[in-house]
Amino acid sequence: MNLQNDLILRAARGERTERTPVWVMRQAGRVLKEYRDVRAKAGSFKNLLFNPELSCEVTIQPVDIYGVDAAILFSDILVIPEAMGLEYKMDEGKGPSFEQTIRSKADLAKITTEAVEEKLEYVFQTIRLIKKDLNGRVPLIGFAGAPWTIFCYMTEGKGSKTFSVPRAMIMRDPELAHALLSAITDATIVYLKKQIEEGCDMIQLFDSWAGVLNKESYNTFALPYMKRICDEIQSVPKTVFALGAYYSLADLAQLSCNTVGLDWHMDPIWARSVVGNSKTLQGNLDPAVLYGDFETIRTKTKEMLSKFGATKHIANLGHGVYPDIAPDKLKCFIDTIKEYQHAQ
Ligand code: CP3
Repeated sequence: MNLQNDLILRAARGERTERTPVWVMRQAGRVLKEYRDVRAKAGSFKNLLFNPELSCEVTIQPVDIYGVDAAILFSDILVIPEAMGLEYKMDEGKGPSFEQTIRSKADLAKITTEAVEEKLEYVFQTIRLIKKDLNGRVPLIGFAGAPWTIFCYMTEGKGSKTFSVPRAMIMRDPELAHALLSAITDATIVYLKKQIEEGCDMIQLFDSWAGVLNKESYNTFALPYMKRICDEIQSVPKTVFALGAYYSLADLAQLSCNTVGLDWHMDPIWARSVVGNSKTLQGNLDPAVLYGDFETIRTKTKEMLSKFGATKHIANLGHGVYPDIAPDKLKCFIDTIKEYQHAQ
């Protein structure tokens, strides 16, 4: 199907665009009252996730309400561990938690990479509904967690400041760590290929816990698995986003991806000098700027746009929008980008 607005895809491929395209990580989420209403109707976050009609509805909401240049599939990175055999709970205010974790060879034997497609059929059904509903208005972004981040949740069993369990495992039992990372990678490749087959126009890998590693451990336990995924998927533009991994930015830029996502710690001019000119950059306004007044948001957003320049940039925040941000502040960020004229 022809897309009416393909700015993001063109920017990802490095082509010149009339203006800088924009979408926002976590745009389909709690910032919007409309999202909270649908979640209440579903009864819980997990019920919403398993309901293709309602997941489709919240995916489209930010396209209708904000006019962003892409929709992102409403789902979660933790559907992969669940499809591998580890169910999780999502408690309001507490985040995700797993009853079972993988901490030994015996635990590893209990999980599987079989029938991932069948188990995640509800996601694919959601994608089909979204594509029909969008009717070519904007591209649809599919996604998965990067293997390292999924490994963190499968071993630790919940969120953590230090992620000591996964970091201990790579020190004490690297062989077990590699076996689990490899299984996660296999499942993720199957999952992403199917997302694309069902209609996702581009994909993003979220490595949210890259920041607990160092350059050497990232190169050993994270990058090789990202590389396998990027090499296996060739049909649509790919974005890698590794939060806190400024130390590996040059290595991330070597992956066969189109776009490198930047968190807000990185200066765009520095990042461009490290990445070189072959990739598109995505990001990276500090999400906390949206706590500021409208004038501050406009000023900081324009500063960001001017630092990235007119090409090879997809505007976004430097991480997901915080749930207590006022929707009109987020709208101000998006409108400022859409109205911005780059200096010739
Ligand atoms: O709009 C979108 O970005 C699309 C949907 C999306 C969600 N999660 C929905 C969601 C995406 C792309 C994700 C990715 C995700 N999930 C990541 C990577 C991105 C990042 O933020 O670093 C991670 C680490 C997760 C795991 C996860 N899911 C956590 C840690 C939490 C709880 C944190 C919190 O903010 O409370 C979730 C829950 C979650 N996933 C919500 C949403 C809208 C909020 C839950 C709710 O509505 O009750």
